[in-house]
Amino acid sequence: MGRRGFSLSALFCWVLKTIMGGCRGGVWLLASIVGLRPFFASPPTDKYMASVYIADTGYFLPERILTNDELSKMVDTTQEWIESRVGIRERRVADAEHNTSDLAAFAVEASLQRAGWDKEDLDLFLCATSTPDSLIPATASWSCQRMQLFDVPAFDINAACSGFVYGMGVARAMMQTGDFNKVAFVTAEKYTRVTDYTDRTSCIFFGDSAGSLLLTKDKPEKGAWEVVDTSMKNFNDGADVVTTEIGGFFWQDGRRVKNYALGAFKESAKWMLEKHGIKVDDLRAFVAHQANSRVLQTVCDMVGIHESQHWHNVEICGNQGAAGSATTFCMGLEEHQGSFKDGDTILVTTFGSGFTSGSALLRWVD
Ligand SMILES: CC(C)(COP(=O)(O)OP(=O)(O)OC[C@H]1O[C@@H](n2cnc3c(N)ncnc32)[C@H](O)[C@@H]1OP(=O)(O)O)[C@@H](O)C(=O)NCCC(=O)NCCS
Repeated sequence: MGRRGFSLSALFCWVLKTIMGGCRGGVWLLASIVGLRPFFASPPTDKYMASVYIADTGYFLPERILTNDELSKMVDTTQEWIESRVGIRERRVADAEHNTSDLAAFAVEASLQRAGWDKEDLDLFLCATSTPDSLIPATASWSCQRMQLFDVPAFDINAACSGFVYGMGVARAMMQTGDFNKVAFVTAEKYTRVTDYTDRTSCIFFGDSAGSLLLTKDKPEKGAWEVVDTSMKNFNDGADVVTTEIGGFFWQDGRRVKNYALGAFKESAKWMLEKHGIKVDDLRAFVAHQANSRVLQTVCDMVGIHESQHWHNVEICGNQGAAGSATTFCMGLEEHQGSFKDGDTILVTTFGSGFTSGSALLRWVD
């Protein structure tokens, strides 16, 4: 009798929790009970997963600007060639005494200030970078030391220029399956440290920067972007096409990377939109890896993105590796602040050495 009473109350609690715990889970369960299940293709896989929100953002751009005019005095090139072929006018260069971890710390500090969080609130610190300060420790550890942040798990993610999307995926998964609730996820690069300023085919691209997201499972009252989904894909047959060897300079086979990138960008963006039944025209914004303006324009044409939806900063910040999509996202949010409506969506799609590609879908929740 006692055992049966316990089982019934446990069953009742489970049903109630399912219905209360997630609307989609509840709807699917009710549909199953009343015989409408065939209309609901599959049970929601995320019914017990907590939502992850962006509490605030921050970014850092070094002050020093490197122009095409300066580059044309350093290597055999012209302003016209650079503007017409890669569409970059200028890029930011970090001071010699600032490493990637310093840029990361500056961006995280800016985001903490905007959010009104204390650094002691953080329970996880992730850094996506492909230009780490050192092989060990992780750039995240150097940043934490600089910020006097001593008791927080900290490590790096290297997915080259896809680091912003891969890092969002790792952070979200760790938050949904672990106890982490206040996470600093920063994407930082100092590509000018691995740029060969005697090589005209590569030195025209790169700039330094960092962009930080503060992530939480507590929905901010003012409304926030929810990280709805992330995808990751690798094409490891192209691992030798874009490389930076230990102690060496960035190198790429420009034509091969361009051909690969265009297909991968399109495939990743379309896959994410189709998965969630979102029409391209309904996207509020599209943010891609800031490879170069020409590549971005072709990607937008292939996916069907309008100019008004396309956020970019490559023409004034250059290719910033993984940090380019992060700073573009942060700057876009800042520019359009106050104009977001419940249900607005942003798609972030990246491509990088490896090759890696991936997309993140974000939705504004009032
Ligand atoms: C780099 C890129 C603009 C070069 O364009 P391309 O049409 O492939 O041109 P090529 O590499 O065949 O080079 C064409 C010529 O321009 C020359 N050239 C390259 N850089 C130059 C520069 N800065 N100024 C003047 N000429 C340059 C080359 O030496 C070559 O000359 P050659 O024919 O006498 O040998 C193009 O390949 C590209 O956009 N690639 C993608 C790069 C990228 O975004 N990488 C990001 C990594 S995730």
